[in-house]
Amino acid sequence: MRVRPVDPRAVSPAELSAMHAIRTAVLRHDEPDRRLPTQAELRAELSVPWPGLRTAYWLCADPAGQPVGMASLALPSGADEHTAYAEIDVLPEHRRLGAGRHLMGEAFRMAYSSGRDHVLGRAVDSRDGDRAARASQARPVHRETRSVLDLTAVDTAALPAVPGGYYLLRVRGDTPPELYGDIAAAHRGMADAPRAESASEPEPHDVDRVVAFDRMLAGRDLEQLRVLACHRASGEPAGISYVIVPQRSPARSEQGDTVVASTHRGNGLSRVLKAELLRWLRADFPKVAELTTWVASDNASMHAVNRSLGYCDKATYTHWQLPVADVTADLGMR
Ligand SMILES: CC(C)(COP(=O)(O)OP(=O)(O)OC[C@H]1O[C@@H](n2cnc3c(N)ncnc32)[C@H](O)[C@@H]1OP(=O)(O)O)[C@@H](O)C(=O)NCCC(=O)NCCS
Repeated sequence: MRVRPVDPRAVSPAELSAMHAIRTAVLRHDEPDRRLPTQAELRAELSVPWPGLRTAYWLCADPAGQPVGMASLALPSGADEHTAYAEIDVLPEHRRLGAGRHLMGEAFRMAYSSGRDHVLGRAVDSRDGDRAARASQARPVHRETRSVLDLTAVDTAALPAVPGGYYLLRVRGDTPPELYGDIAAAHRGMADAPRAESASEPEPHDVDRVVAFDRMLAGRDLEQLRVLACHRASGEPAGISYVIVPQRSPARSEQGDTVVASTHRGNGLSRVLKAELLRWLRADFPKVAELTTWVASDNASMHAVNRSLGYCDKATYTHWQLPVADVTADLGMR
């Protein structure tokens, strides 16, 4: 087995094609109902990183030189700089031959040399990734559920109306500068979302992040539709929800975070925000047929809202956390 780094900003056509083949084969095998990324989408993901993250990539080849696995390690800055996020994918027919272990070794070497205390990874439950994590010394720290809504079955007439005292704003694409502050403030309500025992910290939401997020979406050819709820009496932002539409393949889009500020909870705003996005999509984006969303499995209120809108649960995932110090000795680094 030979593992070598891939420069995400200068990925060659052969590397891109190998990484795309691995990513899509793993999705087909482990999460067969997921949307498969196109090569162009994967290239954009490699070259336009998530704001605040530096990401390293590796490819692993078998003794015949055939690429059989890939890994990434995302290194956050700021509050989360003690943590790193790993993703390891090995072709189904090449598993249990050591590729995963070699890729993990590279990822942990980098985590160690960049001063990280923990590496986190997410695996779909009851599949090989889950079994491998259970066999390691990793600890389960968080669970997530992926749910999907068939938009064509939504009865928009039955969706809830805006509660008295609030109004909604639709924001399409880049954030208008006059809303930078309100949108950053609305997202800060995510700080108390359930994360169980995970060492990861919520990303700080400030104006710079709003601008960086817009730039990342443009670079990846993704369009953002946001609905902002405002409190009439105080003028303050009360909540926000957004959808990401891939411009070139809009059929299967994503519902992102929904946040309601703690002082405005209990008024049904999260359901109203999501309902407004559904009305908007049905009216102006007829090509969007399905929305996928990811929610912490113990977030009962958000799951109740999603079920009331017609979302069906598709799969559960566990986030596994491993202290870097537990692995470095095995890798001969200490
Ligand atoms: C998880 C994954 C990367 C492992 O890749 P791999 O090449 O099969 O891993 P290795 O052969 O190096 O196995 C290393 C060790 O992990 C454990 N392991 C791996 N797969 C396992 C399985 N299906 N059941 C039990 N233990 C397993 C074993 O301890 C194994 O050592 P052993 O074969 O000597 O017993 C691969 O199954 C995969 O791509 N899964 C889908 C994507 C995913 O969930 N990734 C993990 C989340 S980041």
